[in-house]
Amino acid sequence: MKIYSAPLQGFTEAVWRNVHSEVFGGIDGYYTPFLRYEHGEIRSKDIRDVERKNNMVHNLVPQIIAATPDEMRPLMGVIAKEGYGRTDINMGCSFALQVRKRHGAGLLPHPDLVAAIMRETEKWPGIQFSVKMRLGWESKDEWKALIPLLNSAPLTHVTMHPRLGIEQYKKAADIDAFAEFMQECKHPVIYNGDITSLDDIMRIKQQFPALKGIMIGRGLLANPALGVEYARGSSLTNDEMRKLIQAMHDEMFRQLTPRLQGNTQFLSKMKPYWEYLLPDMLKRERKAILKATTIEKYSQAVNDALAVY
Ligand SMILES: Cc1cc2nc3c(=O)[nH]c(=O)nc-3n(C[C@H](O)[C@H](O)[C@H](O)COP(=O)(O)O)c2cc1C
Repeated sequence: MKIYSAPLQGFTEAVWRNVHSEVFGGIDGYYTPFLRYEHGEIRSKDIRDVERKNNMVHNLVPQIIAATPDEMRPLMGVIAKEGYGRTDINMGCSFALQVRKRHGAGLLPHPDLVAAIMRETEKWPGIQFSVKMRLGWESKDEWKALIPLLNSAPLTHVTMHPRLGIEQYKKAADIDAFAEFMQECKHPVIYNGDITSLDDIMRIKQQFPALKGIMIGRGLLANPALGVEYARGSSLTNDEMRKLIQAMHDEMFRQLTPRLQGNTQFLSKMKPYWEYLLPDMLKRERKAILKATTIEKYSQAVNDALAVY
């Protein structure tokens, strides 16, 4: 069974992916945050994120978000130009701005739109498609109307995050509904949702031995070692963890400081990682990092936190 890194806008961009795979490793594939077509264009920042020259990770899957084949085509143009043989289609994003345009989880109540997107996949013969989805937008039965469409499309796999769009990240992931989905889906299935420890990985693997893999998002931001822990069958010690977090942080710092001009840009990029990265025990240390107003104060607060990690 494989372990995949989930796409997280604002977090798992190229620098994080490259540095994570170099320092921690243990991940069989990384998914990019979604590429979108908006106001007649694709943001150059998003294009840079998928450009080959900026990506060192060998198994990278670019993700797109679109409601129609017309929106899909320019995104596929970028992906084809960069020579990727894979694309993941987002049918799970629950951000209101996207859902309003019937993007992401906003597609789930519309089998006609999903059918058109599945037909468009057949027009890109050099590219294999997968889908990342939720159970539905507001009813946990919505996937049932979509499954014949997904089953008859030439997908490599489907990643299921068993929640509704309207639930965002509240409520527990619905494992029974996931089991039902897995039974009906003829493609290999990847599980996604609330995996935060090696025990969680082992529990899901035991419950669903036929899984292709487990995709981890916030859990991997909090414990970037989950992939290696699964590979070696045991958790890292605090000391191992501290050294690797320090190495990952220092390398991200080195790569991001020249790109992000000034204190504000740099701090607003780096601080959110610490919301996940420090255990709850280190509340005071986290607060000091989040309060820092200069790169110097930030670096001092990070050193202080890692000293007691
Ligand atoms: C800040 C944030 C950004 C996200 N961005 C994306 C995205 O670009 N594409 C996507 O498919 N899912 C996105 N997601 C959803 C995650 O990939 C994942 O499905 C979700 O967090 C549940 O998995 P987890 O419990 O392992 O984090 C995002 C989630 C968060 C919290």
